[in-house]
Amino acid sequence: MLSFIIAATLIAATAAQACNYSSICANHTMCQYPTTNYGPNCLAPVYSGVNATTQQQIVDLHNNLRRKVAQGNETRGNPGPQPSAANMREFTWDDELATIAQRWANQCTFQHDTCRSVARFYVGQNLYMSLSTGTPNSIQNWTAAVQAWYDEVQNFNKSHINPFQFSSATGHYTQVVWADTYLVGCGFTAFNNSDGWYRKFYACNYGPGGNYLNGIMYKTGTACSQCPAGTICDNGLCA
Ligand SMILES: *[C@@H]1O[C@H](CO)[C@@H](O)[C@H](O)[C@H]1NC(C)=O
Ligand SMILES: *[C@@H]1O[C@H](CO)[C@@H](O)[C@H](O)[C@H]1NC(C)=O
Ligand SMILES: *[C@@H]1O[C@H](CO)[C@@H](O)[C@H](O)[C@H]1NC(C)=O
Ligand SMILES: *[C@@H]1O[C@H](CO)[C@@H](O)[C@H](O)[C@H]1NC(C)=O
Ligand SMILES: *[C@@H]1O[C@H](CO)[C@@H](O)[C@H](O)[C@H]1NC(C)=O
Ligand SMILES: *[C@@H]1O[C@H](CO)[C@@H](O)[C@H](O)[C@H]1NC(C)=O
Ligand SMILES: *[C@@H]1O[C@H](CO)[C@@H](O)[C@H](O)[C@H]1NC(C)=O
Repeated sequence: MLSFIIAATLIAATAAQACNYSSICANHTMCQYPTTNYGPNCLAPVYSGVNATTQQQIVDLHNNLRRKVAQGNETRGNPGPQPSAANMREFTWDDELATIAQRWANQCTFQHDTCRSVARFYVGQNLYMSLSTGTPNSIQNWTAAVQAWYDEVQNFNKSHINPFQFSSATGHYTQVVWADTYLVGCGFTAFNNSDGWYRKFYACNYGPGGNYLNGIMYKTGTACSQCPAGTICDNGLCA
C-alpha cells in the first residue's frame, strides 16, 4: 500500500514537471500528452523516432530547397518564377522542437496539434502521412515528405510574398521557405491500423513559425544581400 502511494506520487510529480509548457498554453502538446506512450489512434504501433543520420538528412533536404528559392532557381508558380530571397536563414536541427513533434507523432492523429510553441517563439508545423498495404519497414522517406510540401510552389502566386498572403493550398511550401525560420525538429511514427492500411506519419515543427498574415515571407533580392545581423552567407542562405 505504501509503495503504491509513493509510486503514484512520483508519477504525478513527473507529469507536472513535463508540463512546464502550460505557461505557454493550457493545451500544449507536452501537457496534453505527458508521457512518451503511443496514443489510442496508433492501434498497433510499429516503431518511432528519428535518428541522428536522418536528422541531418531532414535539415539538408530543407536547406537544398531553401537555397533553390534563395538563389532564384525556382521557375514554377501561379504565376512564377519565384523571386530570389535576400534574407533566407539556413536551417539547423532543434531538439526541443523535435521532442514536441515526436510527442505529437506518437498520437497517430493526422491533423495539427493545438499548441506546440516554446518559450523562445511560436512554432509552425507540417505533417505528411504515407499508406501502404504491408507492415511498415524501417525506411523513412523524408524526401517524399519534404518534397510534397515544397511542390505546392507550383500553386504559389509570387505576388504574395511581401506582404504575405496565406493560402491553404500552399501553406506547407510557405513554411518550408519562410525566411526567418531557422530551426526544425521532426518526429516519426509507423503504425498498423485496423482498416488494413499501414501508416507512416511524418511531423516537422518549425521555429520561429512562419505563415504570418501580412508578414514578410522573405525579402526579395540577391541571395544573402540582406542577411540578419549576426549571420553570415553560406552559399545563398544566412547561417
Ligand atoms: C520546459 O522544460 C524543458 C526541459 O527542461 C525545457 O527545454 C523547456 O524550455 C521548458 N519550457 C518552458 C516553456 O519553460
Ligand atoms: C483544451 O482542450 C480541451 C479538450 O480538447 C478543450 O475542451 C478546451 O477548450 C481546450 N482549451 C483551450 C484553451 O484550447
Ligand atoms: C501489422 O498488422 C499485420 C496484419 O494484422 C500483422 O501481420 C503484423 O504482424 C503487424 N505488424 C506489427 C509490427 O504490428
Ligand atoms: C542555382 O542556379 C545556379 C546557376 O545555374 C547554380 O550555380 C546553383 O548551383 C543553383 N543553386 C541551386 C541550389 O540549385
Ligand atoms: C536511421 O534511421 C533510418 C530510418 O529509419 C534507417 O534507415 C537507418 O538505417 C538508421 N541509421 C542508423 C545509423 O541507425
Ligand atoms: C522516396 O520518395 C521519393 C519521392 O516520392 C521517391 O522518388 C523515392 O524512390 C523514395 N525512396 C524510397 C527509398 O522509397
Ligand atoms: C496573383 O496575385 C496578384 C496580386 O494579388 C493578383 O492580381 C493576381 O490575379 C494573382 N494571380 C493569380 C493567378 O491568382
